Amino acid sequence: MTNLRGFWLRSLPELPPAHCATPADTARAELRQLAARCPAWGGIGISVDPAMDRDSYALEGKILRGGEAGVLYGAYALAEAALQGKAPADFPGGVQAPAFPDRMLNGWDNMDGTVERGYAGRSLWFEGGRFAYEPDRIRQLGRLMASVGLNVLCVNNVNVHEPAEGLIDELLPELAAFGALLRPFGVRLMTSVDFAQPIRDGMATADPLDEGVQAWWARRADAVWAAIPDFFGFLVKADSEHRPGPFTYGRSHAEGANMLARAVAPHGGKVVWRAFVYNCMQDWRDHSIDRPCAAYDTYMPLDGAFDDNVILQVKNGPYDFQVREPVSPTLLGMERTALAVEFQLAQEYTGHQIDLYALASVFRDFFDDVPAQRLRAIAAVTNIGRDESLFGHPFAAANLYCYGKFAWNPGESAEESLRSWARLSYPEAGEDLAEKLMIPSRGVYERYTATLGLGWMVTPGDHYGPNPSGYEYDRWGTYHRASRDAVGIDRTREGTGYAAQYPPELEARYSDPETCPENLLLFFHRLPYSWRMADGRSMIQRIYDDHFDGAAMAEQMAAVLRELPLPSPDREEALRRMEAQCRNAREWRDVINTFFHRLSGVEDAHGRMIYD
Ligand code: GCU
Repeated sequence: MTNLRGFWLRSLPELPPAHCATPADTARAELRQLAARCPAWGGIGISVDPAMDRDSYALEGKILRGGEAGVLYGAYALAEAALQGKAPADFPGGVQAPAFPDRMLNGWDNMDGTVERGYAGRSLWFEGGRFAYEPDRIRQLGRLMASVGLNVLCVNNVNVHEPAEGLIDELLPELAAFGALLRPFGVRLMTSVDFAQPIRDGMATADPLDEGVQAWWARRADAVWAAIPDFFGFLVKADSEHRPGPFTYGRSHAEGANMLARAVAPHGGKVVWRAFVYNCMQDWRDHSIDRPCAAYDTYMPLDGAFDDNVILQVKNGPYDFQVREPVSPTLLGMERTALAVEFQLAQEYTGHQIDLYALASVFRDFFDDVPAQRLRAIAAVTNIGRDESLFGHPFAAANLYCYGKFAWNPGESAEESLRSWARLSYPEAGEDLAEKLMIPSRGVYERYTATLGLGWMVTPGDHYGPNPSGYEYDRWGTYHRASRDAVGIDRTREGTGYAAQYPPELEARYSDPETCPENLLLFFHRLPYSWRMADGRSMIQRIYDDHFDGAAMAEQMAAVLRELPLPSPDREEALRRMEAQCRNAREWRDVINTFFHRLSGVEDAHGRMIYD
């Protein structure tokens, strides 16, 4: 019922008792369980200190002192240290505090029980148009979140399909009951709302400057916070991929967001406004539009115009959760706006929780370029579902774990976070799980799906498996424009100008193909197949090599996995998925190599098999 496969709490299997009402109660229960398992860590008392920040804690002798939720985060930190064999004396001294006050998970769960881009089964909490769940599994979710320091859950998809509008109306009692299960874990709720919700309710308009619309939202906010006083706020996808928004009324996104922000402000609520706005009806013949430019073009002119309780949530890269993207220049450019970065734990473009893909290095790469101080909050689309293991692939749990680590401390190391996850979740597996599977996994997947920054060669719609022309003549603005002689898009000032959205140092690095990171080369440049890579290979040879290597590395990972002493049924499940990954990697290798071979006519230098 409360399965913890793949997650580090597996070593502390008991759910805290249901009568725990506060994070401090939960913390005491967790410490009791820990003491039974690791006696050296027994006898630690808890002291909630209202003078401390809500989420921070400090271990002082045998007392764990902390803010209201901090004591729980401290308890989990103690448990992690204990379960990794450390001694209490080695526990870090001083006050520990998270980098961001709001550390969010966004569920893309629909109320019919489906999950948009969900690869772990149906929704854990919705079915048949209403909440439907096992309370203990929701408490388990709260526990997972708290154990990695996450504190806000958005329950419904950013694409608000009927009847989700009822969540802030007649379904409020259900929402409140759901939230009550998460409160002892310090988790607050958020819902996605539809900007045109007043129209669904019979109003003639959703114009943010209309007083009737403003009053409608104020009434809704009053009702929500009356039912759930610690409710976090509303998440909004507006004017994006056919969702309604302020543009319909000739209003700006600041006008739209601020209208909602003023409705929730009296309750201390937040509006999280997504910046995923671009033209999804582009004509592929029109080279004047470059999709990665869109967010910056839309939002930079609005910098400073948003109310204080608006958080602008921007995807980590300028496209859409690709295997490799540069950081979003919007997050580097806006100075006077509260910003959140959005990652996607659900493996939409990154292997559907079939192929191994550890996101830890995505977080590391991001924070190497974006100073954490620029951000107010951090968000990620969940990878959780009703699947028995909660994550589809039990190892996909590592992505939630590592996300939490970076949300708490953006200085975290990708490798260390994966090592901790592996050590805690599968102590029986030794070092190979982290060293030979998880740490290399992104590089392997990247080799066969997205070498040199070439994204989007995926099957349209489901986004798994190769289709090099799938989006090429389509309206989504995601082109590589491979021809007989060259591939890639010139995004320098001579090209689409996208690179000019970066601060000068990054622009300079990206704009010169000699200094541009190789893994972004064809994102920023259009180059001939004969282009010489740093190691002397031609670019086309590098493309062939990466695809041959990627598929071979997947086979090597399968061989490692077969030897790992993992518990059942995780071992069988991981092996079954790994076989599918190897098939997928071969398919990518052959389709992409054939595609470029047919176009370029260049032979593989090593005479390997490329199909005609
Ligand atoms: C991607 C994804 C959609 C999702 C969208 C979003 O485009 O494919 O399913 O709705 O991102 O982030 O809003």
